[in-house]
Formats: sequence, structure tokens, C-alpha cells
Amino acid sequence: MTLKSRIIGCGLYVPERVLTNRDLEEMVDTSDEWITTRTGIKERRIVSGERTVELATRASRSALRGAGLKARDVELLVVGTVTADNVFPSTACLVQAELGMRPGIPAFDVAAACSGFLYALDVADRYIKSGAARTALVVGVDVFSRIMDWQDRATCVLFGDGAGAVVLRQTRGKGGILSSHIHSDGRYWEMLYTPGALTGSPFERRNSPRPYLKMKGNETFRMAVKTMGGAIKEAMRKNRLRPEDIALVIPHQANIRIINAIKDRLGIGNTRVFSNIDRYGNTSSASIPIALYEAVEAGRIKRGDVVLLVAFGGGFTWGATVLRW
Ligand code: UT7
Repeated sequence: MTLKSRIIGCGLYVPERVLTNRDLEEMVDTSDEWITTRTGIKERRIVSGERTVELATRASRSALRGAGLKARDVELLVVGTVTADNVFPSTACLVQAELGMRPGIPAFDVAAACSGFLYALDVADRYIKSGAARTALVVGVDVFSRIMDWQDRATCVLFGDGAGAVVLRQTRGKGGILSSHIHSDGRYWEMLYTPGALTGSPFERRNSPRPYLKMKGNETFRMAVKTMGGAIKEAMRKNRLRPEDIALVIPHQANIRIINAIKDRLGIGNTRVFSNIDRYGNTSSASIPIALYEAVEAGRIKRGDVVLLVAFGGGFTWGATVLRW
């Protein structure tokens, strides 16, 4: 049998501080009613000084505990993030040091915005399938509160901070990742981006822009539905799956209306699509691993179930992963 990678442990960490829609009413011209009906979000978690590496490290510990492994067992560490604490070193190197992982293993970040976790998972899966690693830790972490314009009601109500992680193990059994499909189209970068993370050098005349997230909401919404719908179909075709074969779809949590639009297109019932957007908002790279952790904890995924993960993010980037639990 060919080599595959299987998720053997999931982890999550979200900051303690809760920011509700009511709290946002005090900050910008918005209402709980608008946010709830347009997005499905009721509250989100926001850091109170914690750094990206702290969130990633805590989620990693939780995933390793779930897998019953020690940090030293990990042979590859891939972190999906676009809000690293430093330009370098990578968040992965910092997590490696924090957890006391084996020196010398490959550890690196992957930047694909809200698709970051599926990109990181894709990379780790390919390492494992090729035999280059047997055990991998894959993390999705983002702290978007640090790139929000907290005076822009069109964006600041949408995002939250958090981290999720999984441990992947090489297997020859039936379970595991069946296929992974990642895509990007850089022509659309201006639909969703941050203007810059670096200050201007003394040799430039222009001022460095403020690094706050900018988004063309309506266009992004349409592309999210189109590309995620396409990725799901691609993944289903590849694995010869009918909608009824899929036990659970875990979509990126950006907007409940996007999730509902995908559900309607595919004809998948409510009970087979996971959402926790009401409690976390859009946590970017962390959104899918947080949802996966909660779905497993809630007993929504059983051994042998086919699970479909699907994401979309700035870049634009998008992708889907099919796995048998
Ligand atoms: O993670 C990956 C990428 N992100 C996404 O996939 C997000 C995609 N986009 C969306 O989810 C939606 O487009 C939004 C939630 C961002 C916006 O929802 P919408 O239904 O497309 O609203 P809109 O942008 O068309 O705005 C409708 C109205 C506007 O007022 P007027 O011009 O009709 O008077 C906005 O100014 O709502 C206004 N508005 C708000 N009102 C109250 C925008 N933001 C707010 C707000 N509170 N927070």
C-alpha cells in the first residue's frame, strides 16, 4: 500500500479575551444586528499582548498531547501564517525553540492568508508521502487584530485571533489524507491585502504605508463562493465522491453566507457542514484547524468518515483537502 499521512492529534488555542458585537458598537458605527445577519459572527477572541508564537506554541502542545507524542518526535514543522511576530526568523523556528523540538528538523512558514493551513497541510502531506518525514506538526495561526484598522467598520468586525494545529503521522492504512488541491491567482491580490509590513529605507522618498488590511468585500465574497465551490468539486471528482459520501465539510469560516452559498450549490445538508464562526469570526489560517478540533471534540467525526476541508484567502489562494478519518 502507498504511503499516506493521517491526522492523529488536533489542538487549539484562542486568547481569553472575548470581543462581542456589542463591544464593537462602542468602537465603530455598527450594530450587533448588522454583523449577525451579514456575517453570522457574534463574538471573536483578541490577544491582550500575546504574540503569534505563543498562540502557535500552545495549539501545538495541545495537538501533541492529543496525539500522545512529544515535541522531540516531530520531524517536520510547517506553520501557516501571515502575521508572524518577526519578518524573520519564521514562526516555525520560534515554535521549534519554544517546544524544544529536535535541532536540525525542517521548520518553516507558509504564507497563503486564510488558506494558510491547507497550504501547510499540503506541503507536510507531500513530505510524508514521499518518505521525507514520518511525523509532522502543522499549525495555522494568525493574529489579525494587529493588522486591523479598528476604525474601519467594514473589516474590523470580521476577524479574530487564534491558532490550531494537527499532528500528521505516516501510515499505510486506509485512513488519512486522500487528496489535496491548492491553487492561487495573483491577479487578484488587490482584492484583499495589507499595504506593507516594512518601513521605508532612508534611500526611499515615499512614506511607508500603514499595514492595515484592505478588502473589496463584495468581489471577495463572490470569488470565495466560486473558488471554494470549484475546489470542492475538484476534490470530489478526484475521489469519486457523491455529496452523500461526505460525512462533514469543514469550510474556512469567513462569512456564514459564504458557507450557506457553498452548501446550497453542493446540495449538502446543514448537519454535514461545520461552523463555529459565531464564536470566533474569521481567524484566517487558524480557522480550519480550530473548527476541526471542535468537530472532533463534539463527536461530529467518527473513524472511517470522509471529511472535506476547504479554504479561501488573500492572494487569492484557495484549496481543498479530502481525508478519511
Ligand atoms: O477570509 C477570506 C476573505 N474574506 C471574505 O471572504 C469576506 C468576503 N466578504 C464578505 O463577507 C462581505 O462582503 C462583508 C461581510 C465584508 C460585507 O457584507 P455585504 O453584505 O457585502 O455588505 P456591503 O459591503 O455591500 O455593505 C452594505 C452596507 C454598506 O452601506 P450602504 O453603502 O449600503 O449604505 C456599508 O457601508 O453595509 C455598510 N456596512 C456596515 N454597516 C454596519 C459595512 N460594514 C458595516 C458594519 N456595520 N460593520
